Amino acid sequence: MVDGNNRRATRLCRVEEIPDGTARGFSFGSGLDRREVFVYRRGDIILGYDNACPHQGTPLNFLRDRFLTEEDDAFLCTTHGAQFRIETGFCLMGPCQGKSLKAIALRIEDGAIWWVQN
Ligand code: FES
Repeated sequence: MVDGNNRRATRLCRVEEIPDGTARGFSFGSGLDRREVFVYRRGDIILGYDNACPHQGTPLNFLRDRFLTEEDDAFLCTTHGAQFRIETGFCLMGPCQGKSLKAIALRIEDGAIWWVQN
């Protein structure tokens, strides 16, 4: 879908398909065109990030849809243990401390979550 500002939008899922307080990953394309993102939901707060650690560019999760620490209080990169603030993607500890996950633009429309790309 292309919106009125000529931006491409990709439907990810319905809001209720991400259980409260959890995140879900999405993959698109293959090879060099592969793109991975994940979306976190807590109540009405919905946040999305590129699923690429600023340390080495690998996906944060090893297991499907597991992006959080055991305490569910930060995102966790399973490769080398970096932790990121949920609200901003800022790296709190680990080898990429001071860097941030790249946020993605989301739009909620009729209960569905759309990823808006420039
Ligand atoms: S790749 Fe994420 S902490 Fe090293």
